[in-house]
Amino acid sequence: MAIKLNHTIVHSLDQRAAADFFAQVFGFGKPVPFGPFLGVQVDNEVTLDFLNADGMEIQMQHYAFLVSEKEFDQIFGRIQARKLKYWADPGQKQEGRINHHFGGRGVYFQDPSGHLLEIITRPYGKELP
Ligand SMILES: [Fe+2]
Repeated sequence: MAIKLNHTIVHSLDQRAAADFFAQVFGFGKPVPFGPFLGVQVDNEVTLDFLNADGMEIQMQHYAFLVSEKEFDQIFGRIQARKLKYWADPGQKQEGRINHHFGGRGVYFQDPSGHLLEIITRPYGKELP
């Protein structure tokens, strides 16, 4: 049996704001409540379960998504429309720029809880043939 990542919990300052932000910026459907979570399923069937941190300190996590060129344009367009800060690098030094690693495009931005999100059009280490 192939072992697949199925879900992970995303601790959030405000789970509703975080789940809505994620779903809207990426163009997914409305978050689905399940127990205490608000779930958003991405296209490879991994669900991000947003949960209120309820006073616990939130450790910044990093979530990276492989997208098509068209999806990059759409998502990056929404990032710009919302006037979000974005960076070409995970160290958040190159503000207002994107990168072109592996012959594609990549950019970093933050979700409302401060988690660092990334969209890339080429997987790491996979140069275009
Ligand atoms: Fe990354």
